[in-house]
Amino acid sequence: MKKLFIKTYGCQMNVYDSARMADLLAPLGYAPAESATDADMVILNTCHIREKASEKVFSELGKLKELKDQKAADGGAMMIAVAGCVAQAEGAEIVRRQKAVDIVVGPQSYHRLPELIARITRERGHALETDFPAQDKFDSLPEEISASGPAALLTVQEGCDKFCTFCVVPYTRGAEYSRPVEQILSEARRLVAKGVREITLLGQNVNAYSGAGFDGEAASLAQLICALAKIDRLARIRYMTSHPRDMGDDLIAAHGEIEQLMPYLHLPVQSGSDRILAAMNRQHTRDDYLRLVERIRASKPGLALSSDFIVGFPGETDRDFEDTLSVIRQVGYASAFSFKYSPRPGTPAAAASMHVPEEVMSARLEALQSLLLEQQRAFNAGCVGTTMPVLFEKTGRKPGQAIGRSPYLQAVHADHAAHLIGRICNVKIESVFPNSLKGVLLEKQARAFGTFESMASN
Ligand code: 5AD
Ligand code: SF4
Repeated sequence: MKKLFIKTYGCQMNVYDSARMADLLAPLGYAPAESATDADMVILNTCHIREKASEKVFSELGKLKELKDQKAADGGAMMIAVAGCVAQAEGAEIVRRQKAVDIVVGPQSYHRLPELIARITRERGHALETDFPAQDKFDSLPEEISASGPAALLTVQEGCDKFCTFCVVPYTRGAEYSRPVEQILSEARRLVAKGVREITLLGQNVNAYSGAGFDGEAASLAQLICALAKIDRLARIRYMTSHPRDMGDDLIAAHGEIEQLMPYLHLPVQSGSDRILAAMNRQHTRDDYLRLVERIRASKPGLALSSDFIVGFPGETDRDFEDTLSVIRQVGYASAFSFKYSPRPGTPAAAASMHVPEEVMSARLEALQSLLLEQQRAFNAGCVGTTMPVLFEKTGRKPGQAIGRSPYLQAVHADHAAHLIGRICNVKIESVFPNSLKGVLLEKQARAFGTFESMASN
């Protein structure tokens, strides 16, 4: 057996891709390694969305080179591959700067890894593969899929045609591509057969999904969710990340109609200022967003929202920032992600003047995060005393304890529940911690249900 170590940076789509790379290399005899030290093959699955991500990759590669040299001195060998969005954006630079790298493979070409490995084993040198499109990849990935727990990720859409002026995704992941409905349904069925109870549908712009349906016509995300909801034992469906412009009427209605669709939606607004939204090319105004939130909440009362925010976009004034705070106050978020603007090479905003000073950005981020934290705490505190269905995903630190997710994606701990991994149980919430809730099993569920592994067969 050879050992494979994959280090994943960035978004959930990279997490999905890393799992698929492991599935792809398993038939070649690669089993997962705990660390790079005992690996024969190391893959860095990289992210290019913010900060000096590429510099991080180069410093990690420097460390791997030492390990590789050490292995060679001991008579062994290590292969190093760089995958993901940094590979796509800076492939040529990577092989030029770090000679220890054997393979550079973009996010749409990693299905070719076995062939690239064979090629460099035969010929030495290095291989660089950063072709589009995504379709070939999905058509060539193995059917066999591993499930690492009862909640799984499933990429249904890739790429983005929106071209927000700060964002590198349209350049690294390419144009929008949606997988056909049938391909997604069969992947979902295979996951469910392995005991998966919850699937999160992934896409850079997932609600722009428009894959080939059964009748050859394009299916919307709502239609896809409707088809998935018919799979027996698939209890929960989520999707991320959505663009406000692509929240179609049928998707909004689906939130009210499909029981399996969880009452939680990640709907990034980025900024609350119309001026900044226009400069970001978001293609919606603040009011459009607020009206949209009202419509979604009318369809599914009690739905919880989360968002992404960027502070310090070029030209952002105190007034613009105030508008962002006021959108947050108006909407009320259950959770959120917020970032300082970081210029990405090749994006239109990176060429803008009027950069916001670092200390102003820091102060704005702090103010924004303290408001968001206050809202998150209030949301969590409001759950105390209520009873929620929790899907237990893994055991906790204390013996007998299990950790699961509420419908609102909160982490929930419960004692005497370690035998319930893979089950959805009613939990009465008793207390709140900064990043999780604690509750007690409501029903007499101490009876030994099957474990996650044994469920696949029953
Ligand atoms: N600077 C800061 N944040 C960014 N994001 C995307 N590009 C940038 C950038 N250049 C954030 C957005 C997006 C999330 C995934 O990352 O908020 O929704
Ligand atoms: Fe980037 Fe905007 Fe596309 Fe999201 S919608 S991936 S922020 S370009």
